[in-house]
Formats: sequence, structure tokens, C-alpha cells
Amino acid sequence: MNTHFDIIITGGTVLLSHPKNPYNIVEESVDIGILNGQITKIGSLSSFYAKHTFKAKGLHILPGLIDTQVHFREPGMEHKENIESGSRSALLGGITAFFDMPNTTPPTVTTETLEDKLNRAESSSWCDFAFFIGASPDNVHNLPTLAHAKHCCGVKIFMGSSTGSLLLHETEKLDHILQNISTKPIAIHSEDEERLRERKKIALSNPGKVHLHPVWRDPECALISTKKIINLAKKYNRKVHILHVTTEEEIQFLSAYKESGTVEVTPQHLTLMAPDCYDRLGTLAQMNPPIREERHQAALWKGIHSGVVTMLGSDHAPHSLEEKEKHYPHSPAGMPGTQTMLTLMLDHVNDKKLSLKRLTELLAVNPHRYYNIEKQGLIREGFKANITIVDLKKKRKITKEWLASKCNWSPFENKETTGWPVAVLLNGQWAMREDELIGPSKGQAMTFL
Ligand code: DOR
Repeated sequence: MNTHFDIIITGGTVLLSHPKNPYNIVEESVDIGILNGQITKIGSLSSFYAKHTFKAKGLHILPGLIDTQVHFREPGMEHKENIESGSRSALLGGITAFFDMPNTTPPTVTTETLEDKLNRAESSSWCDFAFFIGASPDNVHNLPTLAHAKHCCGVKIFMGSSTGSLLLHETEKLDHILQNISTKPIAIHSEDEERLRERKKIALSNPGKVHLHPVWRDPECALISTKKIINLAKKYNRKVHILHVTTEEEIQFLSAYKESGTVEVTPQHLTLMAPDCYDRLGTLAQMNPPIREERHQAALWKGIHSGVVTMLGSDHAPHSLEEKEKHYPHSPAGMPGTQTMLTLMLDHVNDKKLSLKRLTELLAVNPHRYYNIEKQGLIREGFKANITIVDLKKKRKITKEWLASKCNWSPFENKETTGWPVAVLLNGQWAMREDELIGPSKGQAMTFL
């Protein structure tokens, strides 16, 4: 039995995994004892010795939060971001782990490209990490093997083209993937490629009119694609993960198929709205799938409350300001977001749009549950000591100075939010305190059950 700990966190309100039902989160005032990188005891620990005691009175203690969708641009586009700067940005924002997308240069579609990313992250990542393998017409037959690589979180399919060259939309190839991958998550960028191509003239014949982005990439585009992939998932009794869902129509459709699809939404789609975002931010608000009007945003919130939405991802997609200033539609789609995700969502918690418990499910419990992450995502004895500590009452502005992404802008600059991360424990060691990172970087590769 342990009679001492490296760290005891005491006096805070813990978003705790129920001992009998791990996915049931309860808010409790308990102490957490940490030893050798693990949560080893939860309860009243006042009679125990620790090398360091963190007094968390007035603070909330969350499992380390997991950003299940980032584009950290390494290798190939390091002028926008790299794993070091992207993960630094994530950690400052209260994130302890990320899943990085495969649309880098070269794309992550082979064992070699996956291992290259892992090696880079081993030496530079501030957070724990895992990588998606991208589906391409050339690797379809090899995907089941590639997907089971040790630190691969799942397969990413771009059914509609976005940033980079990855694309796989042919029905027979999608069918083959779903038939042959049964135990690894498959995450989908869901926009119908044919309709995107047909309608691109709307954007091309109206240069500079970024307001037309959600008209070119319309709700039908998203719905056609989501129906197609869910039908294939049903055919093989599989579950797919639909990334950054943006439409009321998809939320309605997906609510009838919870068995076949988990659903991600982004803080951007929950916070920004057309047409105002395009008026204010121009091409900075351009992303795929697009930010849409109020009825869609209202449906996404309903999806959060009804349980259709299972995860939040930042879709952190940095582009330099110079690139974003190109004339629409030649401007690239995407915006940074991993650093601002938590404070934006805590602000929504303060506005009573969702509870802290629900937020914890979306950013930690469900990533653990649906991606089968080993020992991460719950505050529970035996789990890794990755912990995000937040002050729900702290109020301040999102400033350029605070941002760590290489792109150095945010659509939320100067927005005042209430609710901020104040400290992060990674693998049992302090990694962030009051906006300061505590080096050296200590990110580890994530493993999956
Ligand atoms: O807006 C987007 N940007 N959506 C994506 O799916 C890709 C991303 C990027 O990598 O820039």
C-alpha cells in the first residue's frame, strides 16, 4: 500500500468517474493522490504525506482533456505550425492529448510516414499524442494493417476534398474499408465530393464573396455524404465517427442512428454564426464544413443536450494570415482552435449552455470510451495522472500575446471569456501553471485497447 504520494490535489471539486460505473461522472469534493505518473488513490488523504500538495479550493479538477482533431502541419507545412508549437498551444489551453490528422505533406498514409510523425512527436510534443492514418485510393487494401499500428488512433477518410490532397469518395472503396476494418475507429470528413465539384462555380464566379462559402458547401452536401457513410456502417454493423457536423439536417438524421455513428462538433460552429462571422472576420471565418446560420447552430446545441453529439474537437487548422488574406475562394479553409477550445466552452458553461459534467464527457470520457484509449480520459484509480484544473470564475480576454500557434491569430481575439485552465498535470508532473509551461516537454505516445 502507498503511504505517500508525489502530489496530492486537495480541496477541489473533482469530475470523478463513478467507481461502479466508469462513464458516469459525478462531481465530488475528494482528494487525488498521484504517484509515479498515476492516480493511485482517491478519497480523503489528509493523513497522507506528499512531496507537493496542491490546494485547489474553488477550482474544478477535470480529467486531462483530449483534442481528437488537430492539424499540426508537420511535416511539410511547418511555416504554419509544427508539433512543438501546436502542442504548446494545446497545453496552454488546458489540453493534455491530441489526435493529429493525416493531411500533412507527405500525407500520413504509410507505415513510414506514421513512424516519422511518431518520432518527431517523441522529441517535441508538450502533450500526449496519437496519429490518424489517412485513407487514400492507393492504401485501401493495406489499411486494416496500417490502422492497427500501435499509436494510431484510427482511420481518417476525407469523403470531400478540403486542405491537402487526401480524398476517398468512391462507394466501392468506402465499402471495402468498412467491410474490412471492424475494430478501429473510422473518422469521416463528410461532404459529398460530386456536389462540391458541381457547385464550386458558385464560389469561382463570385470572387471575394466569402459569404457564399456555406452556399457552395451547402447542407445538402453534408447530408448526402453522411447518409452514404451511415448506410455503409449499418450494412456492416459498424460505427463511424462523423467529424465536425454542421447542419440541422445531419443532427436530425444522426439522432435516429446513434448505433451507427458518433458525432463531433467544434467550438467554432457552436460559437460563431453566419452571416455575422463573415461580415466581421471575412476569410478568417472560412472553414470546411462551413460556419452556418442560426438554425444549424441551435441544432448542434440540441445535439449536445440530447446525446447525439458525443465529442468536441477543435479542428485546429492553422494557416498564415498571408495565406488567409488571399482572395476567396483561393484563401485556404481552416482556423486555429486547440488553445481556445476549453475557455470558449467554459464560457458556455457559465452561460448555462451546457454543464461541466457534459463538457467533461465530450472532451475526455467519450474520447476514452469511443477511441478505446488506454488509461486516459477518466479520473479513476489506476489511470494516468493527466489532469486539467480550471477556474470557472476567472475572466479575461483572449489575446494575441497568449496565443502560441505559429499562425498567431484567432477568430476569437479580444473576446472576453469566463472560465480558464489554471494548471495541467501531464503524466503526474506539472506541465502548465498560470500560463507558464514547465519544461522539458513530456508528451508520450498514447496506446489503445
Ligand atoms: O477547414 C478545414 N481545414 N477543414 C478541414 O477539414 C481541413 C482543415 C485543414 O487542414 O486546413
